[in-house]
Amino acid sequence: MTQDELKKMVGWAALEYIKPDMLVGVGTGSTVAHFIDGLATQKHLIKGAVSSSVASTDKLTALAIPILDSNDVDGIDIYVDGADEFNPDLMMIKGGGAALTREKVIAAMAKQFIAIADKSKQVDILGKFPLPVEVIPMARAYVARQLVRLGGMPEYLQNVVTDNGNVILDVHNLEILDPIELENKINAIAGVVTVGLFANRPADIILLATSAGVKKLTANS
Ligand code: 5RP
Repeated sequence: MTQDELKKMVGWAALEYIKPDMLVGVGTGSTVAHFIDGLATQKHLIKGAVSSSVASTDKLTALAIPILDSNDVDGIDIYVDGADEFNPDLMMIKGGGAALTREKVIAAMAKQFIAIADKSKQVDILGKFPLPVEVIPMARAYVARQLVRLGGMPEYLQNVVTDNGNVILDVHNLEILDPIELENKINAIAGVVTVGLFANRPADIILLATSAGVKKLTANS
């Protein structure tokens, strides 16, 4: 199977968790794009979707899936999103599509967080995938220096502006042995909006696409 076929299989498999009247948090990326295609078949059953990016909003709108503003709801039943890397505790690096801040807000609001991923995203130790950090533009150089002090090699993505008007530093060269500690340290740097480490709020379930089918993973399963 190609990687896109795996993404499609797992995107549609997540529909099993969508029940009538649910408010559904919708992530961002190529795996989620398949989930949105599947969600369109159930758009009359759900309460609506809360989107994590302009790109996902555009796709939801094109498929006439009702969208609610995150400020108008007091919770989200289920959040389905992709991952760039995940470890055995279901902690993740996310934000390869620069949508990390809105993704983190929706994850925080959601009762259940289901990540959909293919086998290439599974690791023992997070950090091979560059860790995205969203930063307000005037703090870019200062934050980069602090990230170097933490052992990383930040790269400024010159062609990327987030949906919130900020910039992204991709941090290379990390071996993240204590993801919660690193998430807290990076979040504490002045000028950082969000770090794409989802360790304090990991996924509850990961649906993993393999050529033998979709496996359901829970922490350390
Ligand atoms: C976007 C994300 C995506 O979920 C992550 O990059 C995975 O993307 P894809 O499904 O295209 O591999 O965090 O900000």
